[in-house]
Amino acid sequence: MEKLIKYAFLILPSLNRVYYESSKELAIAELKILTRNLSNKVESIELKEIAGLTYVTFQSTEIIECDIKHISNHSTIYALYEIKDDDLFKPIALNRRDIFDDDLISIQKYMGKTNEYFTKFLLNVTISSTEFSSEKQLRILDPMCGRGTTMLQSMMYGYDSSGIELNKNLVSAFEGFIKSYMKSKRLKHKFQSLTKKKQLLLETAVSKEDYKNNNLVKLNITNGDTIDCRKIFPKNNFHCIAVDLPYGVQHGTTVNSSLKRGPLALLKQVVPEWIKILKPGGCIGISWNVNTCPRDIMIQTLEDTGLEVFDTEEYRKFVHRVDQAVLRDVIIAKKGRYFIHPLN
Ligand SMILES: C[S@@+](CC[C@H](N)C(=O)[O-])C[C@H]1O[C@@H](n2cnc3c(N)ncnc32)[C@H](O)[C@@H]1O
Repeated sequence: MEKLIKYAFLILPSLNRVYYESSKELAIAELKILTRNLSNKVESIELKEIAGLTYVTFQSTEIIECDIKHISNHSTIYALYEIKDDDLFKPIALNRRDIFDDDLISIQKYMGKTNEYFTKFLLNVTISSTEFSSEKQLRILDPMCGRGTTMLQSMMYGYDSSGIELNKNLVSAFEGFIKSYMKSKRLKHKFQSLTKKKQLLLETAVSKEDYKNNNLVKLNITNGDTIDCRKIFPKNNFHCIAVDLPYGVQHGTTVNSSLKRGPLALLKQVVPEWIKILKPGGCIGISWNVNTCPRDIMIQTLEDTGLEVFDTEEYRKFVHRVDQAVLRDVIIAKKGRYFIHPLN
C-alpha cells in the first residue's frame, strides 16, 4: 500500500471576520471539489487548530506539480505545508494561476461588490465541476456582472471573460476602472466600443511579447438585459457561467418589468437562455440569498430546465451567513453532454 503523506494549508488571515468564520467550512468543500479530478486522491480533509491558527489538513500520496497548481488556486489558501513527523511543517511553494497583479481584483471597493474571495470560490467550484477543468483556455460569463468581480477574477486566470449588466452606471464604473488600470499598469492593450451593441471589448496581454504573439486575454462587457444573452453570444459558447444573483427585491428582467421579491421568476425566464450559450459539459454556478428562496426549490427550478444539479455532500456545504439579512448558498448545475430541453 502506498504511504500517505499529511499536508496542511493555512487559511488567509486577511479575510473579514464574518467571512473568515464562514470560510473554514467553505474551504473544506472547495478543496474536495478542486481535487476531485487530481491524479492522486486527496482524502481525510478536515479543519485543525494548530497553535491558535486554523489549518485545513489532508492526506495524499506525494502531491505532484500539477496537483499543487490546482490546490494553489484555492480561494483562501495562504500557505501550504507538508507535515513531517506530526509537527514539522515543510513549506511547499504555491504555484497560482494568477497572471496579473492582485490589485486587479482587490483595488475596487464599492457598495454591492461581491466579496472577491467568495467570487473566486464560486468560480473555482463551478469550473472544477465542468468537464473542462484541466483545459488551458476557457470562456467565462457572468450574466449579471455588476462592476465585474467575476470577470476580473477570470481575467486574472487568463480566461476570456464576458459580462452583462443591466445598470448603465455600473457598466460605466467598470469601464472607467479597467481603462485606468490598463494605463497605470502600462499593459499593452486595445479597447473597442461597439455603440449599437452597448458593448466594450478589451484585448490585452501579460507582456509586450505575448501581445505581439497574439497570446491575448480578452474581456467584454455589455450593458443590457441578461435575458437577451442569446442575441449577444453564439450558441454553446461558454465553458462556465458564474453569477451572484441580486439580493433584496431587485429581481426582474426588462421583459417582465415587475420586480419580484425572490429570484425564482427571474431564473425561470433566464436560465433557459443561459443554457443555450453554455457548452454541453459546462456548468452554471449561482449564489443567492436562501432567505428569498429555499435550496430545494432552487434545485427543482434548475432541474426543470434540464440541468443536472450537483447535490452530493460537499455541494451541500456552501451555505454561509453574509450579514443579518443574507444567508448565502451556492448551487452548481451541469448541462449534460447530450442535453435535451425537457419540453422538446
Ligand atoms: C449581486 S449584484 C452582482 C455584483 C457583482 N458580482 C460585483 O461584484 O460587482 C447583481 C447584479 O445583477 C444586476 N441585474 C439585475 N437584473 C439584471 C438583468 N435582468 N440583466 C442583467 N443584470 C441584472 C444588478 O444590476 C446587479 O448589479
